[in-house]
Amino acid sequence: MSIEHIRRFIAQDMSIVDEVIRQKLHSHVALIRQVSEYIINSGGKRLRPALVVLSAGAFGYTGQHHYSLAAVVEFIHTATLLHDDVVDESEMRRNRETANALFGNAASVLVGDFLYSRAFQMMVEVDNMHVMQVLADATNTIAEGEVLQLLNCRDPDVNEENYLRVIRFKTAKLFEAASRLGAILGNATPEQERAMTIYGMHLGTAFQLIDDVLDYSGDHQDTGKNLGDDLAEGKPTLPLIHAIRTGTTEQVSLIRNAIKNGGIDNLEPVLGIIHNTGALDYARQCALNEIEIAMSAITPLPDSEYKKCLMQLANFSVTRNY
Ligand code: IPE
Ligand code: IPE
Ligand code: MG
Ligand code: MG
Repeated sequence: MSIEHIRRFIAQDMSIVDEVIRQKLHSHVALIRQVSEYIINSGGKRLRPALVVLSAGAFGYTGQHHYSLAAVVEFIHTATLLHDDVVDESEMRRNRETANALFGNAASVLVGDFLYSRAFQMMVEVDNMHVMQVLADATNTIAEGEVLQLLNCRDPDVNEENYLRVIRFKTAKLFEAASRLGAILGNATPEQERAMTIYGMHLGTAFQLIDDVLDYSGDHQDTGKNLGDDLAEGKPTLPLIHAIRTGTTEQVSLIRNAIKNGGIDNLEPVLGIIHNTGALDYARQCALNEIEIAMSAITPLPDSEYKKCLMQLANFSVTRNY
């Protein structure tokens, strides 16, 4: 089974989600439509809405709310990307110029705010306090994670624990919420909801670990982003943290300075040290460990095609090259 299999299996549901997204992007302000359609139509992987659909299916949900909640998580995701690209000064995403590069920072930040608030309007319509609680908490935690990361930038003393905290907050929390929402809609038992929470959080952690590996080793045509963006910002991600932990004195000093100074002038030597110290393999192994926890969390769930797809999605998140 592959990601294509998952896509085929939920194709009908996802086309309804896309329709909800399209309708809900509506605004009387032309610039909002322009920027939001630009990024939404640029073809993201739509993994988080797929998680909502799959988890709802895994718990036998037969209503319609999973479509709007899937759109909600994609809106929240998109808002974080608009803001993130401003903060990271990124110029490429999804094989296109970023919205900030094309429309400017101000438009990106403000349309990100529009998407966040539209997401909140939509989740209120679902009229389920538990759902609102999960999404409100997730959105707040993501913001915390992004600020925490800002504090860590250009700090070569950030350790693996600090790093993991950032990625759990900024990325894993939304995967966790998406996985949980379907369980809530499908009236899962508290124990099952907990299983989906653990699944989503470890899946999301693995997903970001791999994102950070791809930032040093991906093919920009596959990832659709510029490589070296993390180094440019002086972001102490796990590949660098591991290199600092295990490198020679000389290597350590080069990496520490690269983090402190930011910029990509030292990308070549940094790449060399990362390879030399096995830092990417180490980070990949951490992602695999996370995925193992994610998968064993949902093993007790009733067997279904949806559950198989959740397992496969976990697999994809660590084998992906985009
Ligand atoms: C990018 O997420 C941001 C991270 C959390 C790494 P995705 O890789 O899911 O982005 P799209 O939506 O598929 O472009
Ligand atoms: C993920 O981190 C950002 C969010 C969760 C918003 P990155 O900064 O690594 O994501 P990319 O690489 O820009 O997609
Ligand atoms: Mg970024
Ligand atoms: Mg990245």
